[in-house]
Parts: sequence; C-alpha cells; structure tokens
Amino acid sequence: AAQSVMKKAVELAPDSLLPGGRPDPLIRRQHGQIGRPVSRVDGPLKVRGAAPFAAEVALEGMVYAALAHSTIAKGRILTIDAGRAEAAPGVVLVMTHRNAPRLAPPPRFLSAAKAAAGDDVPVMQDDRVRWNGEPVALVLAETQEQADHARSLIRITYAEEPAATSLATAGAHEVGTFMGEPLSAKIGDAEAAFAAAPHKVDAVYRTPPHNHNALEPHAATLVWRDGALFVHDATQAVAHTAWSLARIFGLEEDQVHVSSPYVGGGFGGKTLWQHQILAAAAARLADRPVRIALSREGVYRVVGGRSPTEQRVALGADADGRLTAIIHRGVTPKTPHSAMPEPFILPTQSAYAAKTIALEVRTCDLDLVANTFMRAPGEAVGTVALECAMDELAEQLGLDPIELRLRNEPETDPVSGRPFSSRNLAVAYRLGAQRFGWDRRNPVPRSRREGEWLVGMGCATATYPYHRMPGGAARITLDAGGARIDVAAHEMGMGTATAQAQIAADRLGLPLEAVTVRYGDSSLPGVILAGGSQQTASVGLSVMMAHRELVGELLKLAGNDSPLAGLGAEEVESADAGLRKLDDPGRFESYASILGRAGRGELVVEGSAPMPLETMHWSMHSHGAMFCEARVNAVTGETRVSRFLGSFDCGRIVNPKTAASQFRGGIIMGLGLALMEETQVDGRTGRIMNRTLADYHLPVHLDVPEIDVIWTDIPDPHTPMGARGIGEIGITGTGAAVANAVYNATGRRVRDFPITLDKLL
Ligand code: MOS
Repeated sequence: AAQSVMKKAVELAPDSLLPGGRPDPLIRRQHGQIGRPVSRVDGPLKVRGAAPFAAEVALEGMVYAALAHSTIAKGRILTIDAGRAEAAPGVVLVMTHRNAPRLAPPPRFLSAAKAAAGDDVPVMQDDRVRWNGEPVALVLAETQEQADHARSLIRITYAEEPAATSLATAGAHEVGTFMGEPLSAKIGDAEAAFAAAPHKVDAVYRTPPHNHNALEPHAATLVWRDGALFVHDATQAVAHTAWSLARIFGLEEDQVHVSSPYVGGGFGGKTLWQHQILAAAAARLADRPVRIALSREGVYRVVGGRSPTEQRVALGADADGRLTAIIHRGVTPKTPHSAMPEPFILPTQSAYAAKTIALEVRTCDLDLVANTFMRAPGEAVGTVALECAMDELAEQLGLDPIELRLRNEPETDPVSGRPFSSRNLAVAYRLGAQRFGWDRRNPVPRSRREGEWLVGMGCATATYPYHRMPGGAARITLDAGGARIDVAAHEMGMGTATAQAQIAADRLGLPLEAVTVRYGDSSLPGVILAGGSQQTASVGLSVMMAHRELVGELLKLAGNDSPLAGLGAEEVESADAGLRKLDDPGRFESYASILGRAGRGELVVEGSAPMPLETMHWSMHSHGAMFCEARVNAVTGETRVSRFLGSFDCGRIVNPKTAASQFRGGIIMGLGLALMEETQVDGRTGRIMNRTLADYHLPVHLDVPEIDVIWTDIPDPHTPMGARGIGEIGITGTGAAVANAVYNATGRRVRDFPITLDKLL
C-alpha cells in the first residue's frame, strides 16, 4: 500500500496583504525602484578602503590574539608547557583550559531561535580534545607578530585515543535530521517500482568535504566595558551572536552588543565559532580589548564546512521517459557536537513527478571540526547526483535531457502534495536553450573535437527553496527630508543595503537618494539571519509592515485639516513623498506638510513581519536551467569551462545588477565544486592537510569564462515583492551541468567529484 507523507496545507486568511493573502500591489508597479539595476550604495566606501571591517577596528589599548591548535584528533591534554611563551616579548596572557573562565556551552545553531554556534563544545573548559585543530591555547600579546611567535613556543603533550576520521572508520549510521525534520520521505514502493521499470539508472555519486573560504577570514575585535561585551564581528547573524554570547558568559541579552556592518563574504560559515568566545574570555582575563583575526589556516581549523556525501540515485522510467521510481539515498557524516548532516535529498523532494519516491540521508559521527551550513546545503551536492542521473537516463532513453525533464514536470509538489506558489522551470529551459544554442549539441559523446580539445555541452536543473524565517522587524524614521530604515540585517557584499533602499523607496514613494538603510548591528530591530537566501524577503516584508504602521500614524497626525481627512489606511498609498487617495490623486498631502502642521520633526514607527505561514501552504522554490560548454584536453585531461549560462526563475528580481552578481558568484562556486574544490583530510590523524589557498583549489579568473545569466522575472504572487531568494541557487545544478558537459565531450562519466584531470585520462 502506498504510504504518503503529505502534510495538510495550512489555511491562510485571504484578506490580507501578507504573503499567502492578496498579492502585494507593488508586484504590479511598473516604474518603481524595484527592478532597477542600482549600483551598490556601499560600493564607494568599500573601493576607497573606507569601510572598516572587523579586523580593522582599532580599540584603545588593544592586544592581539593567536590560537594554538591541537595536533591530535581525539584524546586528553596531559601537559602544557607555556613558560617560554609567557616569557616571550610582548606577551600579556596565555590562556588554556586551566585558567580560562568557566563558561556555559555554546548554544548550537538551530537548537534555539537565536542560537548561533557552529558546535556546542564547551570552549576550553576541560582537557578533552575533540578534533585535530581544536584551539587548546590562546596567546595575547602587544602585537600580532609577538602573539604568533609566542604561540609557537607552547609545548603540549597528549594521551591519544582512537578516532573516527573517515566514512570508512565511522560507527553506526542513523537517519539524519535537518531543521528538526528527519531526512527521509517515502511515496509508494520505490524499490519494487524500480525493479519493474523497463529503463533504469542506478549509480553512486561522491562529493568531498568543502571548506569555507570567504575573502575575509573570520575576525573579531572586542572589549568589555562595565560588565558588558562589545563585539565588532564578521558575522551573518548579529542578533543570534549577541544572544548566544550572552548565554555563554551568563549575561543579559542587552549586555552584549554585536556590530558587523561590513562582512567580506559569508556563505553559511560566518556564525559563532570558538574564536569569538575565546577572544572574549581572554579579554576578560587580561582586562584589555582584543583583536582576533584568524589566519587562512585558522579558518580551516576552527570553522567547519560541508561534509562529504555518498549518494545512490536510482531512477526507473517507462518507455515514454516518465519516471516510475526515484530512489535517492546515501550517507554523510557529522560530528557529535554539530547537527548538520549535508541534507542532499532536499532538491529531490520537489523535483519530478515520479509515482514512487524513496529518499533518505543516513549519518554517522566523525571526530572532526563541526560541519556546518555552506551555500545551498543539500541542494549544491544533491543536484550533482540527481541531475547527473537524469542525464544518464536521458541518454539511455535516447531523449534530449531537457525533454526528459519537461516530461516529468510535477503539477503539485510530489512529496508534500502542496501546490507550487509559482514554478516556471519550463520557461527557464526554453529561454536558456535558445540563448545558449542547445540545438547545436550533438547527443553522441566525443563527437566534437577542435585540435587537442574535446568539446561538449551539458545542462542540469538548479533549485533552491524560498524561505522566510520568523523574527523579521524594521523601524522607519521619517522626517521632512526622507526616511531611514533600521534593521538588524547583513550586507556581506550581496547588495542588501541597496535592495532594501529600493524596496523602502518604492514603498514610501520617495526618491532612492532620500532613503538610507542602517544595518549590521544587534541593537537594531529584528532577528534576521543572512542565510537561507531569505534575507531580502524577511527584511522587505518587515519594511512593508513598518510602512503600514507609518501610514496609520501619518493619517492620525494629518487630522481634519488635511486633504486626506477621513480616509483609512487601506484607501491611501505612498507616492511623491506623501500620501494620496488610491483612486483620487488630487487628495494628497506630502510627508513634510503632515509633519510640519503637526509640529513634528520626525515620526518613528516599527513593524514586525508575521509568521512565515506561506511555506506551509505552498511548495515554494526557485529554479534554474544551467547550461555548460566544457572543453577537455584529450592529451592532458584538463577541463576548461568555455561557456556557461544560468537561466533562472526566481520570481521578481529586485535589482538586476546585484542579482546577476549573486547568480554568477554562485555559479563560480559551483564550478569549483565541479572541478577543483576538495578538503583533504589525512585519514590517519584527522588533520586537514590542504589548509591554504595554494593547496585548496578555487576557481580564479582564468578558470571562469564570461557567465551569462538571464531570468524569467515572473513575480511569485505569494512572496513579499514577488521575489524569491537568489543567493544560493547559482551553486546548485552547476556541478551536474559541468559533469554532463564533460561526459558529452569525452564519453567519460565521472561520478566522483571533483572532476580532476586524473579521472579523465
Ligand atoms: Mo547560507 S548556507 O544559508 O549562508
């Protein structure tokens, strides 16, 4: 009997402006700020070097921190000889588990609403060692060089214990969970349907661990004042970090202030790790402000990345190419102190209209640095396996890979049963195929050669869900000259401040120049993570809600002498720096006039976003059709991506300029995933060996062709502004598009990523 995991759709009130209710009227607006390719408002400061990042803030009397890392994977510290370090020039303090202040364990990410820590290991609280590279001592000195030198003088002996450091040596496997939900789904009897299918593909795909390599390594500059902690951090979660540090140090939430206005990239790894906690503890012991700036190697030791995966994908299809079974299951490790098994089945849940589906992620514990979120966790590597398998099936069926996908487009979400809020993948494929020249692809592998180079084309589907987390809030301060938006959001280079200025300007009927956005500070309203590609929706809706408050307050202030007298909030809109009646533009009064007549210099309102019920009612996902042309050298096996196109369906695009950069950045990260990125762990010691950018290969300019990006721009009627997230989708589908192009070029199907040249010879 068919088992179903369908969940009942939540009923939503149809009468509200909120997502799930009436579509946002701004979606239909043709000439507003939304959709304009505005240049980054934070750009000039950054290119002039005038934007101080966390490791550039100078505090009076500041000392510098250096970490010593364990050299074993598991065991106990027997002795620490810090005498020479303590006597070295400039040294202020050597902190180890013997003198570190007693701290509460870090609240692990997702374990509470505002928990921000990558792991819940009690930081320097005992003699235990849990991974190779765990901080075991911290040195403070008057200069960074003195701290680094003194750190090298510390001698530590250990009692080593057997450690599990690879999938082969891991213990029991159990079903993983993600965001509190088990990572499994079952529709019908997929194994039986697969066994009976006339056409089938059954293959195992492997992806390696990946490390975070944001341009700006993790850093914090911090100080204690009157029992309160002030942190200049590099984080994508200011409010979460403040709350979590307060828990760790036994403080009230408002005794921790986290400021992070400028962040040099964050892809899921710029959260709370041991370095901020240790620096704060040492600052308290030494009674000095502290700067801790992790070296590139330091990031590899302290900050976790994406865990490796082994994924079996088995697809069964009938003679028409209609899927009768999708099986996607496999294993990925985590650590005892983190809860983030790479959830690679996520993209498969809503991908295709198969009659039977069986999905499962099993996980096991390894003694390594805690794995964590990394751009499109799940989808980035899940689409590698699923979309390569679809390519393999298409070839077996003699079908064009795009046609195979279109034949299996689902009407409703195949696992949840919910309707899609908006799904135009077929449009994205049509537009993309036309622009890329897909009709010039020869389906016969190894059929196009130019000199030494074998040339091929491949495609794959990209997908990432729409999310909106609870906790959105924003404050508007309106005066005669314009408005300021205050929100605890993050600008990590993706264009947050610019997009939100556009949204607010449209909402308030102000020119863009009259709107400023303040962000990146835990004292501002909202608990808004820059993650899950959801910040724009979260902040945008918060601004919309604050604007509703503003209209109500303005109408009250306007009173009976205004042309707006007697009108309710639903009868007016913001336009031309004032309010006007919806169908009678003659009834208008400017903000300046309303404020002036009421004798008010400014008006301050705050609005909160409602709970994100829309995702319980609809299946909400962005999609893309990814096209790759790859050239593989027949002599050396070297792969060069010569052309790439991403054709996206992500709802309304708020800012085409910043969006294009997000798409391209994601695709570049996907090219790395496809061809070069791989964290190499020594299986004997659990130590990460390639911990520099010389050894851990990322795409550089010469590896990246001109990347073409286009989009449908079809608004999603059920999201704020009609927009869905765009920050992560670019990395999804890219790995498979490259692998499929390499197969078309060479006839070699590489299922073990990255596709390095040795695998093609
Ligand atoms: Mo992203 S992995 O949600 O920063």
